[in-house]
Amino acid sequence: MKDLAGKVAFVTGAASGIGLGICRAAVGAGMKVMMADIEAPVLERAHELLTHDLPRNADVAKIVCDVSDKKSVEDAAQETIARFGRVHLLCNNAGVSSGGLVEECDEGDWNWLIGVNYLGVLHGCQAFLRHIKDHGEGGHIVNTSSMAGLLGGMAGWGPYNSTKFAVVGLTEVLRQEGKEHGIGASVLCPGGVATNIFDAPRNRPDRFGAQVSETAYGNVGEGIEDALNPDIVGKLVLEAMQSNILYIFTDPRFIRLLQRRHEHMMADLNWAGESEALVGAPGSNR
Ligand SMILES: NC(=O)c1ccc[n+]([C@@H]2O[C@H](COP(=O)([O-])OP(=O)(O)OC[C@H]3O[C@@H](n4cnc5c(N)ncnc54)[C@H](O)[C@@H]3O)[C@@H](O)[C@H]2O)c1
Repeated sequence: MKDLAGKVAFVTGAASGIGLGICRAAVGAGMKVMMADIEAPVLERAHELLTHDLPRNADVAKIVCDVSDKKSVEDAAQETIARFGRVHLLCNNAGVSSGGLVEECDEGDWNWLIGVNYLGVLHGCQAFLRHIKDHGEGGHIVNTSSMAGLLGGMAGWGPYNSTKFAVVGLTEVLRQEGKEHGIGASVLCPGGVATNIFDAPRNRPDRFGAQVSETAYGNVGEGIEDALNPDIVGKLVLEAMQSNILYIFTDPRFIRLLQRRHEHMMADLNWAGESEALVGAPGSNR
């Protein structure tokens, strides 16, 4: 999707950080925007901020929505379509972080992260995809994952690390499925961005219960002092989306770590080529 003026964006996690940055960039590009977030008072303030000195013809609305609740996302989608007519850009950006060893996190801890970080993205896609296909003007989906969606092994961060991998997998599928309908898909994989992500439990819905895991989760945030401004990430997202970039990276310094991961995979694939168990096995080509 290249021509953005007058098109409509729906952005989750829009009250803070990267979501707010995307909204600001979208408004700057002449788009109409629906800001969706679970935290009502902060959303109210963010909406005020964004509408304070809007360019002429800009149109920004807000809606309280819990992305982990399918019905809440469906309702928000209906309201957005009723308000703006057609939606073109879907940014499934809301996300939460929480630490804890795999066995230490209880069902509530796991379900909260799965519910927001993965199902939240899926709910957005299911609520809008048919609509975007039907209006036929094309569109784009940007799902927010993380470098933690491409680099595994974050000990003490199982729920976050694994849900972010799932978002990458889902986005790659969407990209293939959307092709014939003119719907692109990108996955945003930020490194450090200066946001409120480490205060995520502020928005944990009651139905997931209180956090059980006690492992401190400040350590991943260390070094965040040279983190990016979320407004820059917002601009980057729009620029990358217009070029239909699949993986939207914010920090090219991660190249060594990504290379190391792929070298590891190649080495293990080569090991399989030498393994005794596969000698002569049908389908193994040995
Ligand atoms: N900040 C970083 O360094 C960083 C790095 C990698 C990935 N990310 C990802 O970026 C995305 C945005 O996070 P951020 O860093 O801007 O943090 P943030 O906390 O500043 O913003 C997240 C927003 O999501 C909202 N939210 C939380 N739960 C929700 C729910 N159930 N329904 C709807 N909205 C909900 C919050 O109210 C908040 O406004 C997340 O998916 C996060 O995992 C952030």
